[in-house]
Amino acid sequence: MCGIFGIVTAKETALGPILVEAGRRLSYRGYDSVGCATLSPGGTIDLRKDVGKIDEVAERLRFGEMRGTRGIVQLRWATFGAPSQANAQPHLDSDGDLVGAHNGNVVNNVELRERFIAEGMTVRSTNDGETCVHAVERYVDQGYPMLEAIRRAHGDLQGDYAFVIGRVGEERLYAFKKGSGLVAGIADGAALVSSDLPSILPFTRRVLRVEDGEIVVLEPGGIELRRVEDGARVEREFEVVSETMEDAQRGGYPHFMLKEIHEQPGRARELLHLYDASPHVEAMVERMKGARNLYLVGCGTSYHACLLGATYLARLAGRPAIPVLAPQFVPQYVPALGPGDVGLFVSQSGETKDVLLALEAGVARGLEPLGLLNVIGSTLMYKTRAYLPLACGYEISVPATKTFMNQALAFLYLALKMGGHSTADLHRIPELLEETIVATDPAIFPLVDGLAGCDDLYCLGYGLTYPIALEGALKMKEVTYAHCEGMLSTEFKHGPLSAVTEGYPVIFVCGPEDVARVVSGVNEVTCRGGRAIAIGEEDPRLRANAHDLIVLPKAGPLLNPLLAVVPLQLLAYRLSVARGYDPDFPRNLSKTLTVD
Ligand code: M6R
Repeated sequence: MCGIFGIVTAKETALGPILVEAGRRLSYRGYDSVGCATLSPGGTIDLRKDVGKIDEVAERLRFGEMRGTRGIVQLRWATFGAPSQANAQPHLDSDGDLVGAHNGNVVNNVELRERFIAEGMTVRSTNDGETCVHAVERYVDQGYPMLEAIRRAHGDLQGDYAFVIGRVGEERLYAFKKGSGLVAGIADGAALVSSDLPSILPFTRRVLRVEDGEIVVLEPGGIELRRVEDGARVEREFEVVSETMEDAQRGGYPHFMLKEIHEQPGRARELLHLYDASPHVEAMVERMKGARNLYLVGCGTSYHACLLGATYLARLAGRPAIPVLAPQFVPQYVPALGPGDVGLFVSQSGETKDVLLALEAGVARGLEPLGLLNVIGSTLMYKTRAYLPLACGYEISVPATKTFMNQALAFLYLALKMGGHSTADLHRIPELLEETIVATDPAIFPLVDGLAGCDDLYCLGYGLTYPIALEGALKMKEVTYAHCEGMLSTEFKHGPLSAVTEGYPVIFVCGPEDVARVVSGVNEVTCRGGRAIAIGEEDPRLRANAHDLIVLPKAGPLLNPLLAVVPLQLLAYRLSVARGYDPDFPRNLSKTLTVD
């Protein structure tokens, strides 16, 4: 995800090295292009930006020589629009008097850009950060002072983002946010603002967390908060933070896996805003609708999302789709491919070799390749005819968590659209996910002691929760090194039931429609001395029959799988830590598998 940093100094300074260092501290978020802008007291803007990694671009464009009293650095993680020099940030307004950069997504970017072009502004990119600059330019050109122009622009820009902007001839920077994070700090001789605490910490520990509906004004001598609503001053004490650099990059969490689990409500919210506003979703639906056969192809966690997606598509759109593990796509389906067949290739990294090989084999037989991916600029993106982003930002931890959530949500969204249903109900998901984390994490702790020494268990699901059981079992194997097999609950009695002895743990993931069926399975385990752990909505039958019940918020059968995966992620995480492993970097594994 993109990151922004801005600084205002009391006297002209060599800002280039400061901006490069701040940029490096933002880089853990993942990015594909980088840019710096400095404003000098003489009234000029020096803007340098390009695609590439910060050290390489900084050396090539000589960021180190940039000077001024105000500076902005931005690292861009592309969502829509390929990474390019034009789309790199910061951006200028039409006359080159304003310079600004954002992170996050402005969801009405397309409409605003068209409006600004029609009004005669010079628009140089398709990036929504540039739209933010023009949104302010519009009101500055109408004669409003900066603060007033920003207040008005704020009302025009929809989405989740943070934005920083400066104007020649002034000594200030201004920043505000909607949804995304923004923190300001005050140091000796400098005022600072950033999307991320780590880029501020080297300067100061005295910070202000900017809230939605506030504009922060950075001046050589200090910081002022103003209300967007009426421009009135907001009084707030600085807070003195104790986080270290490393803590801050993990956002105070002990591991990236836990941080990324907690990021799921926010990322889901961003995905929904993005898809609600994106014309690409409808185009994708049309392509999938028109397919002769529709294949959903992925590996590991991404394959589990495909399995869930196939059930959503059948149930909500009456559209059969064939979920398949990428390496099996070639022997099982490629020989039978024909005109009109479509493959939706699902991958967090967009670099998984098994997925790319499957795509190439399919394309050679006339398959139309589509993508659902997290890394914009990845090989998969360039190989597909159309794609949708997962908008999760950088997933650092090897176990996929937030990207699974948004893959599942993307499939649900597409299935509802394809079936002609409203997607409005999906907006309950972010809050339900928050509730799920709060409710289930404490419920998991009592299980950890009993399960930490266990090297063998099952995780069972049925229907919509079958892919969730597979995903839970994969998480468990990946980070605890225990053998955990995921399977269809009804298959358990066809063989694996023989493994059950006194205390043998079996997890049942239960959708609200499947309680009766699951209760039978639970009893098959408990009457043989096994320990049945159920994950589902509160239900007297589950409560009475299972040893443990991890209660999910009531959400109905369609949303239930998205919630059910959360306690499984948390359980895997907590067991990994209890067993003394590093869940972020499990042995023998790599985040991106570019090998056979
Ligand atoms: O980047 P991809 O989504 O293509 O990766 C596929 C799998 O390697 C990946 O999902 C893997 O199974 C995860 N580490 C599981 O948590």
